[in-house]
Amino acid sequence: MQTSSQGKEILVGIDLGTSRTAIISNRGTKKMIRTVVGYPKDIIGVKILGQTRVIGEEALEKHSYLNLFYPLENGVLKETSEKDNQATMELLQHVMTLVGAGPTDKVSGIVGVPARASISSRSQLLKFTDSVMDFSMVVSEPFMVAYGLNRLNRSIIIDIGAGTIDLCAMKGMIPGSDDQITLLKGGNYIDDIFMKAVAESYPEVQFTPLLAQKIKDAHGFVGDAPEAVVVNLRTGGRPVPHDLTEELRMSCESIVPDIVESLEHIITLFDPEEQEEVLQNIILAGGGSRIRGLDSMIADALQGFGTVKISRVSDPDYAGAAGALKMASELPTDYWNQIGDVMGEEG
Ligand SMILES: Nc1ncnc2c1ncn2[C@@H]1O[C@H](COP(=O)(O)OP(=O)(O)OP(=O)(O)O)[C@@H](O)[C@H]1O
Ligand SMILES: [Mg+2]
Repeated sequence: MQTSSQGKEILVGIDLGTSRTAIISNRGTKKMIRTVVGYPKDIIGVKILGQTRVIGEEALEKHSYLNLFYPLENGVLKETSEKDNQATMELLQHVMTLVGAGPTDKVSGIVGVPARASISSRSQLLKFTDSVMDFSMVVSEPFMVAYGLNRLNRSIIIDIGAGTIDLCAMKGMIPGSDDQITLLKGGNYIDDIFMKAVAESYPEVQFTPLLAQKIKDAHGFVGDAPEAVVVNLRTGGRPVPHDLTEELRMSCESIVPDIVESLEHIITLFDPEEQEEVLQNIILAGGGSRIRGLDSMIADALQGFGTVKISRVSDPDYAGAAGALKMASELPTDYWNQIGDVMGEEG
């Protein structure tokens, strides 16, 4: 991309997630969009829409006459079709308009992607980021969270997203693939289990994935129920109150055994003399970290390991993007290539 000395210097941190993308800039932008692009199915759709594509929440609302493209799936960039590539590109272009970048501005950005994103998927993404920014870097998202919290050493980040749960051992250096574990059991998985459980308990009820997610986001918990989860659900067209407390508990708890098992392994990646400190430095991030009771249930399961302290990030929506912006602000661009994959002209 062309650079110019006349425009503003804009730094951005982007957390490109499976379900949502968070954007923060040093010019005051703080935005969240759904990671989805919709294209009208036919010319009628184009007419209703008044344009040829729509990005984010609006695409979900108007899904009935759109083909939806989700750039990320299970934590990796989808690059199966031309249309997938186009969707990723247009999503990033949209992000740049949200940032308010003009043609003469110099934009440097750090993009956090799920830890599992492979080398090929990262370099593919980098080609897209390079065409919308002057200088860009792609790094693993849990690392961005750790950077933002200043917990780069002797800590473990557990990022519970929609597509995946990523556990990452922070050892005072850039985490390698051996330091990370990805579980394909994020929020979408919980929604799936929840849907099936509700269908089994109440076969007469009309239930959708979107509804499952809404109820989970509003009431999600593990362990003792903080309140009974009683929701009006449509049966034969009429709203009827249903008690979903047990179904929701069971669904949210379905991710716990795998998290605990992965943690037990990740702890052994640290030197024995460090492990006591690491166990008191476990941080939950991502939208799923909001599930109530999750921190204490994981800590209880690790009882045999000594004192365990699990905390949550204060702002799960923006912790990754904020960490990315912090890094972009603190580190001169000529150091970025020591941290992640970079593209563009330095300085
Ligand atoms: N209060 C809540 N309780 C339970 N789950 C929640 C809550 N709030 C959000 N979530 C879930 O968090 C997930 C979204 O989290 P996040 O935005 O971190 O994911 P993502 O970054 O898009 O996905 P990934 O990191 O897998 O690419 C969704 O599954 C959503 O339902
Ligand atoms: Mg994420």
